[in-house]
Amino acid sequence: MTLLALETSCDETSAAVVRAGAVLSNVVSSQVQLHAEYGGVVPELAAREHLRNLIPVTQAALSEAGVSADQLDAVAATRGPGLPSALLVGLKAAQAIAFARRKPFVGIQHHEAHLYSPWITGEPPRADFEAFQPNVALIVSGGHTMLVHVEAILKHRLLGSTVDDAAGECFDKSGKLIGLAYPAGPEIDRLAETGNAAAFDFPRPMLHEANDDFSFSGLKTSVRYFLRDHPEVLADGPRLRDLCASVQAAIVDVLVGKTLNAARRLGVRCVTASGGVTCNRTLRSRLTQACQREGLVLRLAERRLCTDNAAMVGILAERKLQEAAGDPELDADISPGWALV
Ligand code: KG4
Ligand code: ZN
Repeated sequence: MTLLALETSCDETSAAVVRAGAVLSNVVSSQVQLHAEYGGVVPELAAREHLRNLIPVTQAALSEAGVSADQLDAVAATRGPGLPSALLVGLKAAQAIAFARRKPFVGIQHHEAHLYSPWITGEPPRADFEAFQPNVALIVSGGHTMLVHVEAILKHRLLGSTVDDAAGECFDKSGKLIGLAYPAGPEIDRLAETGNAAAFDFPRPMLHEANDDFSFSGLKTSVRYFLRDHPEVLADGPRLRDLCASVQAAIVDVLVGKTLNAARRLGVRCVTASGGVTCNRTLRSRLTQACQREGLVLRLAERRLCTDNAAMVGILAERKLQEAAGDPELDADISPGWALV
């Protein structure tokens, strides 16, 4: 089966072609630069940019895969959650292609797609489902932070999620207080590299609570109070790097601690992680150490597949079609608030 997948839920326009678990192409056009000027994603601008980019991105994905539109057996797109006007662009384009070619259409839940990106590896990339093990999946990005028990392929249960800000949002908002450009996560990662993570003590919200939920808005507030009381840190390079390392350590401690707690409690032997914050080098190395210590297999999404991409949407859609578990409605509407359960 040759399947075209489109992803336009937020600020990445992406198209991918997959066939029998292999990713033949995965083209991603990021709008990060466009939104940076506004300090966050502007929905109306995102939608217009998707409209501008979708056809060229899709053409590039088809030509890179060496596939023409009449060779497609199915088309998929993210139905939700996401920005309504952004979702509409990819979903309606995918349905129109499916309609014109009289092929099945599959609507995909964005977070469910994230659950499978850590299994896509190699060059050329393919879904390594032979190695699949029941796992606890951490999805951590600018818009979401959640833990999911993936009991089998296509079978999962949400364990917990953030009650306020997402971890990436905490990086971005803390960075804004420090004076860094949006999105601040990558810059905090870089500055923290030469900082002392034990220099300043920030709270580890909900780390020791007996649930799988997260809360990051209090941590951001403590950064604000810290800077109110120590404004001189902003002009002091080494101490600024210590601050970045200390804030990052607090976020990473919570993410690693809660993920490992859930894995231990559920008795799974595998942990996975995906989402933009999974690019963070300290998170990657701390998860690696913790899983090694506990004898757990760790599958981290490859960096290029951490952020939003259509490859993960296509891999999941193909699997759903194979198992007849898809959403076959050609006229299905967007579902901006579609929560993973
Ligand atoms: O997956 P993504 O594109 O999600 C959303 O659009 O929601 O992830 C973007 C988020 C941003 O908050 C960004 O600051 C964060 O991921 N991020 C990082 C790093 N790279 C990206 N956070 C910490 N360290 C990084 N290296
Ligand atoms: Zn995402």
